[in-house]
Order: sequence, then C-alpha cells, then structure tokens
Amino acid sequence: MGLHVGIIMDGNGRWARARGFMRTQGHLEGLKAAKQIVKAASGMGIDFLTLYVFSTENWKRTAEEVGFIMGLVRQYLKAEFTFCRENHIRVRHTGDLSRLPPDVVKDIVDVCRDTEAFTGMQVILALNYGGRDEIVRAVNKALTGVSGNALEINENVIADHLDNPDIPDPDLIIRTAGEYRTSNFLLWEAAYAEYYISEKLWPDWSDADLAEAIENFQKRERRYGGVRAVSVSGNHHE
Ligand code: FPP
Repeated sequence: MGLHVGIIMDGNGRWARARGFMRTQGHLEGLKAAKQIVKAASGMGIDFLTLYVFSTENWKRTAEEVGFIMGLVRQYLKAEFTFCRENHIRVRHTGDLSRLPPDVVKDIVDVCRDTEAFTGMQVILALNYGGRDEIVRAVNKALTGVSGNALEINENVIADHLDNPDIPDPDLIIRTAGEYRTSNFLLWEAAYAEYYISEKLWPDWSDADLAEAIENFQKRERRYGGVRAVSVSGNHHE
C-alpha cells in the first residue's frame, strides 16, 4: 500500500502581502501549486493525497475571499477532469457538504461520481472540513436509528462513521509556511501521523519540496506507541 499524505496548504496570504498583491492573488498562485503537487504526487508512491482547502473556521474570512476560494475550487474541478481521467485519479471529499453553496456541492458530487471507478491515486479535498466537526458528525451518524443505550461508542464505531472510512490513516502531514499547529486537520485520523513543517509559503511549493518531505519521512522510525520501530513502508497500525 502506498502512502497517505495530508497537506495543510498555508501561506497564500503572506505570499501575496509580501508582493503587495491582494490575498486572492495568493490563492490563485496556491491553486497553481496544488495542481503541480497533485501531478507530482502520483509519481512518488502516494496513493492518497488529502488537501486542506477550506476549514470550518475559514467562514470567518471576508465574503469576497470565501467566494473567491469557492470559485477556485469549481474551476479546479472542471479544469482538471481531463487530467484525472487520463491519470485514473479519483477525487473525493471530506467535510460537511451541507453548509457549502449548492453550485459547489453539485460540482463536488459530480466529480466524485465521475471519477469513482478510477483506481489510481485518490485526491481528497477537505472542504468545509474540521476535525472536531467530522468526529461529532461521525458520532451522530453512529447514533442515528439507535434507541436507548443499544450502542456503545468505541474507537471502531467512530472510525467506521468518519467521512471516508475506507481510506487508511495519513502517514505524513505536511504543513507549509512554518506554522506548528494542526488547525483541526484530520484530528482522529492523524493520531500516528508524522508531521513535516516547511518554512516555505504554499505558492512557492514545488515537486522538489514534496520529494524532500517524502525523503525525510522515509528516514523516520515509526513506533505507534510501542518500542519496536515499524518500517515506514509498512502500514501496520499496532
Ligand atoms: C491558506 O493560506 C490557504 C487557504 C485557506 C486556501 C487554500 C486554497 C487553495 C490553495 C486554492 C484551492 C485549491 C484546490 C486544490 C481546489 P492563508 O490564506 O491562510 O495564508 P496566510 O496564513 O498567509 O494568510
């Protein structure tokens, strides 16, 4: 099994500010970087790539900025479909679809359906995503239709009701722009993930940076709370 890598794409605003541009220009450059990284990832042994596009907290930004990011998402989904088909890339979503604009929801649902049978890399777009929100929704899904105390919540019950229960936990979480925070990204799933922080701002990220992050990850010992090191190439969660 190949790797699951999650990326917190941070620093678009700072990239723009440093050049005297609008923040939206930073997001536009961020989209270009995301396209390049998706293309590079499939050739690097990555089977799952989760991109943190928009968090449940990002609604606090101006309506203009939120609208611009939603527009970029729609543009990405439309423009990249041919690339996905040619490279057998399956697009998926994680997050709460119910609070997103209907046109965005439609585009996401359509591309997820149209790429469902593709067996190459899976790109998971975290859009209106929050780790705590995902866990709360998972618990509510588990309790739906259960009366009284018939269901005991344990780790398996929660894991089975997350947004994409079939996707293995991330092995590596990358964060750009030098911030040392999880920012509510894959809280449940990243319990044993390795973290890699890059000082570079997201719009400056390229294939070489991803390759460096993977190489750094491959050198680490993963113990999953035990004593014995587990090879990074194994996916053995014990
Ligand atoms: C973080 O930078 C970036 C975002 C919140 C938006 C990410 C969106 C994209 C990269 C474009 C869409 C991508 C796809 C794949 C559809 P920030 O604005 O928090 O930067 P700052 O911390 O420097 O202000």
